[in-house]
Amino acid sequence: MLGTSRRRRAHPLPTTTKETMSAKLDAVLERLSELSRRGYYNPYTRFDWPADVPRDSWWMDPEFLTVHGTDEILDGDVSIRLSQAETINFFSLHVHGIRELMGEVAIRIHTPRYRRASEYLHHFLGEENDHMWFFAEFCNRYWDGVYPAAAPSPLAATTDADAGPWNDFVVFSRILIFEELFDYYNARLGTSTVVPPIVAELHNAHHHDENRHVAFGKRLVEWLYAEALENGGACGKPAVATYIKNYIEHSVASMYNPRCYAYAGVANPLALRRRLLGHPARRQVHSDIMRRLDRFYLRLGLYEGSWVR
Ligand SMILES: [Fe+2]
Ligand SMILES: [Fe+2]
Repeated sequence: MLGTSRRRRAHPLPTTTKETMSAKLDAVLERLSELSRRGYYNPYTRFDWPADVPRDSWWMDPEFLTVHGTDEILDGDVSIRLSQAETINFFSLHVHGIRELMGEVAIRIHTPRYRRASEYLHHFLGEENDHMWFFAEFCNRYWDGVYPAAAPSPLAATTDADAGPWNDFVVFSRILIFEELFDYYNARLGTSTVVPPIVAELHNAHHHDENRHVAFGKRLVEWLYAEALENGGACGKPAVATYIKNYIEHSVASMYNPRCYAYAGVANPLALRRRLLGHPARRQVHSDIMRRLDRFYLRLGLYEGSWVR
């Protein structure tokens, strides 16, 4: 599918394996581009934005709050406020996270290496631009705008782990991890009858597109993994595995924003965040969210065991 690297081939893959993977990726690109064309919608006219969204209702079902399953007792009003702030946090995370990752895709889209993927990547960028708009629009209409981006994570910067043959594998893995986390919530909250209809509609619209993005991401990451190994990446693999595990942990932890606890009225937001992140019930939730992706990386052979340490 992608252009061939000129690097020395340290561990050549059997030709049939490479051809099969390449053909699989080509078929996925064609199918997903067609689905994107057929499923195209105008985000600016798609939603009926109500004049306001009730402040006395849950904006997220209680079982999806970051305190769920723990013995942290919050009274009804505090929990409802938390459900609103965590919805804003969730939407804001998408706005900031995908903005940064779209830059990485834009850098690659018209390079010879990604030539055959460029049409699909245009759909991807267009759809992510739409998502960024409608999530930000919700925050602007019904809140005081999107939450500010967190301080840049050292994991977002180039590191030894993503240098050389692993560079693209790491970039597209970051996108895949991010999308998997979002889609876990979108798939469930998109059918919620508890939250206001506009909130469920945004989750549902996002889930509709992310289904395709995750399918593409897995095929591409699989291809890039084989390519990195073929291009002499075996010795760098443990560092990449550690990076990926750290990135998953960092992504999950971004759901626990002290700003949300402060808005809800919790006395010591940072202490609550620390307690929640270490709580066994929450760690189980994190495993559940990332189960499919964990299995994917295991099957790939990136690491043994699990991303959870
Ligand atoms: Fe998105
Ligand atoms: Fe996406």
